[in-house]
Amino acid sequence: MEHRHSILVVDDDESLCRKYQMILTEFGHAVDTAPDAERALQQAIASLPDLIIMDLDLPGRSGLELVGDLQESGVEATMVVLTGTGSIPSAVEAMRHGVFHYLEKPVETSLLRVVVEKGLERTALRREVLELRREAMKTGRLQELVGRSPCMLELYRLIDQVAPSSAAVLITGESGTGKDLVARTLHRLSPRTARPFVAINCAAIPTTLLESEILGHERGAFTGATLARAGCFEQANGGTLFLDEIGEMPADLQSKLHRVLEDGKVRRVGGNREVTVDVRVVAATNADIGQMLEQGKLRPDLYYRLNVFPLHVPPLRERVEDIPTLAEHFLERFRGESRAPIAGFSEAALDVLRGQTWPGNVRELRNAIHRAVILCSGGEIQPENLPFGLRQRIAVAPAGDGQMVIIPVGASAEEGERALILATLRACDGDKPAAARILDLSLSTLYARLRGYEQEETGRLGYVGPVGSSGVLGSAQERFG
Ligand SMILES: Nc1ncnc2c1ncn2[C@@H]1O[C@H](COP(=O)(O)OP(=O)(O)OP(=O)(O)O)[C@@H](O)[C@H]1O
Ligand SMILES: [Mg+2]
Repeated sequence: MEHRHSILVVDDDESLCRKYQMILTEFGHAVDTAPDAERALQQAIASLPDLIIMDLDLPGRSGLELVGDLQESGVEATMVVLTGTGSIPSAVEAMRHGVFHYLEKPVETSLLRVVVEKGLERTALRREVLELRREAMKTGRLQELVGRSPCMLELYRLIDQVAPSSAAVLITGESGTGKDLVARTLHRLSPRTARPFVAINCAAIPTTLLESEILGHERGAFTGATLARAGCFEQANGGTLFLDEIGEMPADLQSKLHRVLEDGKVRRVGGNREVTVDVRVVAATNADIGQMLEQGKLRPDLYYRLNVFPLHVPPLRERVEDIPTLAEHFLERFRGESRAPIAGFSEAALDVLRGQTWPGNVRELRNAIHRAVILCSGGEIQPENLPFGLRQRIAVAPAGDGQMVIIPVGASAEEGERALILATLRACDGDKPAAARILDLSLSTLYARLRGYEQEETGRLGYVGPVGSSGVLGSAQERFG
């Protein structure tokens, strides 16, 4: 049997109430009526209707006040207001306060039917989202996002809040904190979920190609453009476009992007036809926004356009309480790759995990668990299955005492090489030619390795020592820089 929706009609005109009751009952709904705002509020709180249709012009408290009261008391019903021709401005005002629709009296039955059906659909959608939010608060996860620290719960709340709209979102956060996952979750929780999610990393594409990648190009627009091609905007039409590492986009393209966001129209490179697109843009960066603006890497107009709704993903070290939950989550994910059944983590292992500074954030934690799962011979994961012995040992080895470097099983060949090179360099007091001789490397190879470590250290991927410690690389840079 079809579910009967409940509707509350609020009007001081009793005969009109009865008329609505009759029509809406005929549509198959259960209908209650109330003559004024006070009683409407009481009834709505008691019976939680799916839809409320109310006259704006009520005796005592006005319809507009009733709208506010209903919202404050947590009534989730969609609201529709009835208005006389003279009071359209207040109906518009009501819509600004979250009312779904207004209907001018006298109301046509066919129009009433459409608005009621749409309104009921909206209630269902809204309840689903609210349910999801309650679920997220209870279980401490939102879709694929795991963690129930206060800052993550706040992030879930903001994601829920902004997902249904088409507002541009700017996600900030250090590398590996989960910006990508947040962008996908936003899309999944939005009404655009069945439409494409297109992601483009502005840092990964040569600047010369970026423009045609994003805007598309017409045939013959440049050498090699033998075919016309739709850009990301057109591909994402109706859906979401995720612009990752937005600060890497050249300034002139930023200004073109700004124009697309303003007008909702794109013009392909080499073309003069404008295509209207309906795209929700989500941008992300792991750089410091203030600094990017200062250095002119991000145009202010684009920044203001993107920053309609900012979301910050906190670094893992600010949500230590999420570490065991995340570790468990990744253990589940990688369990299939283990040699023997793994029961979980030993307390000691969890302590080690909690004690890290996690410069690579959740990604680094994920990799650490992946490796531990492979190394663990069964039972509980122990501290020695975790790759931090390496980091701690080279980080605390005092200079001049670098006769031995301990590379635990579990380190990759690359990490082993790095540890050896840095320890040797330290033992040689920073004398690169001497270190190169001992290592049996050419001087240029040594330089190349060090440059690589330096880039990693200052860049996005690497870890050598905990941030803020006097890691080997830190002192090596001071000496050789
Ligand atoms: N809260 C989380 N719950 C579960 N997995 C997470 C969470 N945050 C991040 N991850 C996982 O960690 C890894 C890194 O996350 P992601 O790629 O989203 O980071 P990012 O902030 O986009 O990094 P970058 O700045 O380097 O692009 C992914 O495998 C992702 O699935
Ligand atoms: Mg990313």
